[in-house]
Amino acid sequence: KKRVCVIGAGASGLTAIKCCIDEGLEPVCFEKSHDIGGLWRYEEKEKEGACVYNSTIINTSKEMMCYSDCPIPDEFPNYMHNTKIMEYFGIYAKKFNLMKHINFNTSVLSCEQEEKGSGEVKVKIRNEKTKETSDFEFDAVLVCVGHHADPYYPLDAFPGIEKFKGEYFHSHEYRKPQGYEGKRVLIVGVGNSGGDIAVELSRQAKQLYWSTRRGCWVMNRVSDQGLPVDIINTTRITTLALKLLPISWINNIVEKQLNARFDHQMYGLKPKHRFTGQHPTINDDVPNQILSGRIIMVENVAKFTEHEVEFKDGRREEIDVVVFATGYRFRFPFLSDSILEVNDNKCRLYKHMWPSSVKNNSLAIIGGIQPLGAINPISEMQCRWACRVFKGRLNDLPRPEVMDQSIDEQTSNMAALFYKSPRHTIQNMWYFYILSCNNCIFPHPRLNMTICSAQVLFGPCTPYQYRLHGVGKWGEARRMILTQDERIRHPLRTRKTSGSESSFPFGFILFILLAACVFYLVFC
Ligand SMILES: Cc1cc2nc3c(=O)[nH]c(=O)nc-3n(C[C@H](O)[C@H](O)[C@H](O)COP(=O)(O)OP(=O)(O)OC[C@H]3O[C@@H](n4cnc5c(N)ncnc54)[C@H](O)[C@@H]3O)c2cc1C
Ligand SMILES: *[C@@H]1O[C@H](CO)[C@@H](O)[C@H](O)[C@H]1NC(C)=O
Ligand SMILES: *[C@@H]1O[C@H](CO)[C@@H](O)[C@H](O)[C@H]1NC(C)=O
Ligand SMILES: *[C@@H]1O[C@H](CO)[C@@H](O)[C@H](O)[C@H]1NC(C)=O
Ligand SMILES: *[C@@H]1O[C@H](CO)[C@@H](O)[C@H](O)[C@H]1NC(C)=O
Ligand SMILES: *[C@@H]1O[C@H](CO)[C@@H](O)[C@H](O)[C@H]1NC(C)=O
Ligand SMILES: *[C@@H]1O[C@H](CO)[C@@H](O)[C@H](O)[C@H]1NC(C)=O
Repeated sequence: KKRVCVIGAGASGLTAIKCCIDEGLEPVCFEKSHDIGGLWRYEEKEKEGACVYNSTIINTSKEMMCYSDCPIPDEFPNYMHNTKIMEYFGIYAKKFNLMKHINFNTSVLSCEQEEKGSGEVKVKIRNEKTKETSDFEFDAVLVCVGHHADPYYPLDAFPGIEKFKGEYFHSHEYRKPQGYEGKRVLIVGVGNSGGDIAVELSRQAKQLYWSTRRGCWVMNRVSDQGLPVDIINTTRITTLALKLLPISWINNIVEKQLNARFDHQMYGLKPKHRFTGQHPTINDDVPNQILSGRIIMVENVAKFTEHEVEFKDGRREEIDVVVFATGYRFRFPFLSDSILEVNDNKCRLYKHMWPSSVKNNSLAIIGGIQPLGAINPISEMQCRWACRVFKGRLNDLPRPEVMDQSIDEQTSNMAALFYKSPRHTIQNMWYFYILSCNNCIFPHPRLNMTICSAQVLFGPCTPYQYRLHGVGKWGEARRMILTQDERIRHPLRTRKTSGSESSFPFGFILFILLAACVFYLVFC
């Protein structure tokens, strides 16, 4: 039996173990902390790498973020609190009996490819309790350490910070809103973490200032009819439209809708880039807090003095606390440069997962991608693919030269889509990415004229669709697709009301489809 080393037991590591078992491989997982969950496990004391804050609620809805053969229980809310996510990881681990494969309190120190042989990897580990190190040999390795390991904390970009007498820290240290009552707080950075912390602290602080260099588009979690936004927007049909319509059309349509909710120009948030130029910030409360004056938008910081901050437009404010929500850098300190080199958040990976230099493709990076959508189904799809390659059932990964070519192509496609920034080195479109991995294992779901197919085509692109046919087929997948709408509505039915609920807005999607067809017929 081939042995596979899984590094990390977060969202990606758990599904890696499960996929190994499915393919008849023997997984051995090393996790340096004492429990599963990775960054979703809330710990009040300082934890290495990223950690959610006490109030973190996920920004992808439950039907879109589940593993494809383990639906999230009916009664769980659509957007789950971090404790619920942990509960779900527990359910998944129990259902497939994953815990017995995990060695906790064990760090991986290095992975090295054997000189001779067919791609075996030597793995050095350290028991964090006894500090003993030992070596093992594995047939293959799945790296599941996440990409939020290193906070990016560019203090030299902020002149005078060393003189600043107030408190300042990176958002990865932030845990809870207590302790900021009556303070003047500045948040630097308008990503998802920046938005969440700004809203939370604006309720406690005397005044909250939110500083941005570029601005951002802000999207609601709650979409038409109160359905989760990713349920409505991530369908095969809308993504087909994305592919057919010119990108500036899409931008015009979406930006118009976002501005209809609140004018990004008037609120001081209007970014320099178009909607598709960067991932939007998902936040439902930002406009409320700006309109009620709790959050004041400010320019980029020019310099710090002892008690004050001066902004690029000359505005000066007294500030007590600064939170740098400036994001993360990723790295794989246990991989030698000959396997994978990471420079300024850039690394060369075929389909964001295969280093071309590894002999016989015996090492893959899982979850090293930043999609506009949930990471769990992506990691799962990557693991299903990787395990089949390890098993030797799929020997058609391209040769290293062809991989390198494809990596160059991938890099230039990304550059065309997103503006240049270290934040945009691993971005991708969720649907297109998952589809391209899926196509490497088996073809599209076969469609016939059934209700299920209508859901697959017009409904949300839920992960169960990738278990309908072929390798890894799951008998319940069809039923899960037909009942997904019910699972979305179930947690909301806590009070009986009369009359009937509105159904899924197929109309809007049909409109997009028609628009796409007309466009295609006229212009292509
Ligand atoms: C604040 C925050 C909010 C987020 N919100 C969302 C969201 O709403 N929706 C979404 O889809 N994504 C979100 N993300 C993205 C997040 O990366 C994924 O949701 C997911 O947690 C990634 O899981 P992972 O297993 O790849 O990595 P992680 O969860 O980071 O797990 C990596 C694990 O590997 C272990 N490890 C690391 N190095 C070693 C080593 N050398 N040896 C042994 N073990 C090691 C770590 O201890 C950890 O347990 C968020 C990220 C952050 C930081
Ligand atoms: C890992 O370490 C933690 C705390 O350091 C401890 O509570 C736990 O029991 C350890 N787990 C194992 C499996 O050794
Ligand atoms: C975290 O939030 C919960 C309520 O959601 C609260 O009971 C708990 O005390 C909080 N923990 C900390 C450390 O603030
Ligand atoms: C590569 O791996 C496959 C499947 O694991 C194996 O059959 C093959 O012999 C290996 N090739 C080389 C060159 O080692
Ligand atoms: C998602 O779909 C809704 C309509 O259902 C639309 O209002 C919104 O602009 C779309 N958002 C994106 C980002 O496509
Ligand atoms: C959710 O939040 C995380 C972390 O802040 C971010 O990386 C991710 O892109 C967000 N997802 C979506 C769909 O916006
Ligand atoms: C459609 O496909 C499903 C399986 O996906 C199958 O059970 C069903 O019989 C098919 N229906 C027709 C009419 O072919």
